[in-house]
Amino acid sequence: MDRTAQLTARPAETVAAPDPAVLADPLHLGAARVLEENWTGTSTVPSRGLYPHQWSWDSAFIAIGLRHLSPLRAQTELETLLSAQWADGRVPHIVFNPAVPLDAYFPSPDFWRSSTAGRAAGAPRAVETSGIVQPPVHALAAWLVHLADPELSRARGFLARLHPRLAAWHRYLLHRRDLGGAGLAAVVHPWEQGMDNAPSWDTPLARVTPAPTRSFRRADLDHGAAEDRPTDLDYGRYVRLAADYRDRGYADAPGDPRQHRRPSDVPAFAVEDPAFNALLIASEHALARIAHELGATGTARHARAQRLTAALIDRLWDPASGLFLCRDLRGGGLVPERGVSGLIPLLLPTLPREVTAALVRTLTGPHFGLGTTTRLAPSYDLLGEAFDRHRYWRGPAWFNTNWLLERGLRTHGEHERADALRRALLHTAETSGFAEYVDPYTGEACGATGFGWTAALTLDLLRSAASGTTDMRDTRNKGGDRG
Ligand code: SER
Repeated sequence: MDRTAQLTARPAETVAAPDPAVLADPLHLGAARVLEENWTGTSTVPSRGLYPHQWSWDSAFIAIGLRHLSPLRAQTELETLLSAQWADGRVPHIVFNPAVPLDAYFPSPDFWRSSTAGRAAGAPRAVETSGIVQPPVHALAAWLVHLADPELSRARGFLARLHPRLAAWHRYLLHRRDLGGAGLAAVVHPWEQGMDNAPSWDTPLARVTPAPTRSFRRADLDHGAAEDRPTDLDYGRYVRLAADYRDRGYADAPGDPRQHRRPSDVPAFAVEDPAFNALLIASEHALARIAHELGATGTARHARAQRLTAALIDRLWDPASGLFLCRDLRGGGLVPERGVSGLIPLLLPTLPREVTAALVRTLTGPHFGLGTTTRLAPSYDLLGEAFDRHRYWRGPAWFNTNWLLERGLRTHGEHERADALRRALLHTAETSGFAEYVDPYTGEACGATGFGWTAALTLDLLRSAASGTTDMRDTRNKGGDRG
């Protein structure tokens, strides 16, 4: 594929005219019901029990599915989130619903105190939020939402209103969060990257003194089995990192990121992560398309996305492991743990062929087993010492990461593998009750059920017109994908 064709490769972006058979499919009806039940009027909760507020990257994935049910609601989902953006450009990882009792979720608004502790960083006054961020899937989501109904989008000025906010969000990440000085964005809390207890964080987190367990009360254990969730020790460290950041006024490292920073200038936890940066790059490409739709060329953004792709390879690619690794900016090196995060760059259209070939080999080889030992790609190395098939991001398979991998496989012409993964995703969503995550071998549900992005991405897979796709109902019901 030549460079221009690569940049315009847009798998599964077009929205098929609703097919009555798909609309009547119980899986479609079930997914739509979850999104209906989780809708609050202005946004969608990931889960009524476990996560009763609006989460940043959840909302982006949810909007991608919601666009098939109601483009207006999908636009509203993103608008609600971005209306809580801080003046420094950050998009908070949680926007709190004031109607939800404080003890329904921890850490609650009185822990984050955004409107006071975040004042200098430009936190909004009218709404309480967390002070950390989540992966920047939003420009990609905004573009896909636009494509679902361009007329409505233009009539409402959807992209014109969102563009400056999305541009400020990317600016924040590319400048304030370039803690390593190489152009990539760093996360300063495991919740920012979204894969909270991934084994890649174990070494960098070990430097953090945990807050005493008696100093906080976890609400998550009221809704999820303890063996599916992070440990109390993990939580102690999450709380310490978040409280320290809050007590610094949510200020990021000062100074010009192009100047050399000493390791002690970066926060206790500062990591360059492959999935976070790959999503930023994919969103830069989307922002280029948005700019083009609004009358600009978008060329500069595509060029920046290519420069970032080069930086990603330079900083995080590990040819010996056949995937991307995390870089611990305090410890100074690559973290030798294979996580699904390291496969997500497959999403990027301009990766060198040898990199995409190695990623596909790793995805289908013994460490992730896709199409051989597992039904969906696990979140962590099947052969890794820390592998735990039920514990959150230490092994279970998640629907958003597998949706991204499906898209990545399709981007690089791996249609058969993409079709097989798509069938497995649909089948597992159905049998697990739209679970938050599943045992990668058996598909057994873990965490919450009726989970927002699982339902949304199911709808997207059912409805988006992908080339070479076979009839999903037939192939799904034949059960040929069972792992
Ligand atoms: N994922 C975290 C939680 O479990 C926070 O975003 O609450």
